[in-house]
Amino acid sequence: MREAKKTIILGVTGSIAAYKSCEIITALAKDSVDVHVLLTKEAGQFITPLTLQTLSHNKVITDMFELPTEWNPVHTALADKAELVLIAPASANIIGKLANGICDDILSCVIFATKAPVLIAPAMNEKMYKHKVVQENITKLKKIGYNFIGPIKGSLACGCVDIGHLAEIKDIVNEAKRLLSAFANNEQTDRSLRRATRRRLSTRMPKYTKAG
Ligand SMILES: Cc1cc2nc3c(=O)[nH]c(=O)nc-3n(C[C@H](O)[C@H](O)[C@H](O)COP(=O)(O)O)c2cc1C
Repeated sequence: MREAKKTIILGVTGSIAAYKSCEIITALAKDSVDVHVLLTKEAGQFITPLTLQTLSHNKVITDMFELPTEWNPVHTALADKAELVLIAPASANIIGKLANGICDDILSCVIFATKAPVLIAPAMNEKMYKHKVVQENITKLKKIGYNFIGPIKGSLACGCVDIGHLAEIKDIVNEAKRLLSAFANNEQTDRSLRRATRRRLSTRMPKYTKAG
């Protein structure tokens, strides 16, 4: 039997590395992953929705208030569907918003509304990355269960070579796949536990027969 496609939400934020999201989509699609892209308004300055939509074969969402075609709001429908939310590249801004509970766009809302794991691949100038506030935000998010990959040392938009470069695409994709299968195994275990509990409860329930 063919395995069902896994669903990943890819959040693309306003970084010079935004163009690399194209490679991520292509690599994931090769592995039969259904990729839904959420593009922040600022990321739209770096890469077009048309490119991402063409590569992902799914509608790219940028506006939370666009009239939904279904009855249910887009952000909760997508959050329920996701088996992983990957943010690559992740700006200092989105990391700060998540660490401080700010939900003012489709990406931050979906992340707060999902039970899927979240993988964050930061990319930014090294001074931004080393800033105490950014480091504290990352530590806070790690502590509450968010996963991080990178950044690594590499060439940055400012022309220098330092920490802040987006992790290698193959490493991001491998980590995404690892988290996807861990999530699927957890879901399976949860389902089996629920079934076993239902079975146990039904055998313990007193059987009523009709009187008379
Ligand atoms: C040319 C240029 C490159 C930028 N690159 C980055 C970057 O790599 N990482 C980052 O955190 N911010 C970067 N910024 C700043 C973000 O775009 C800005 O903080 C924006 O508000 C992020 O919004 P978003 O997180 O909603 O996408 C860059 C800005 C410009 C003009």
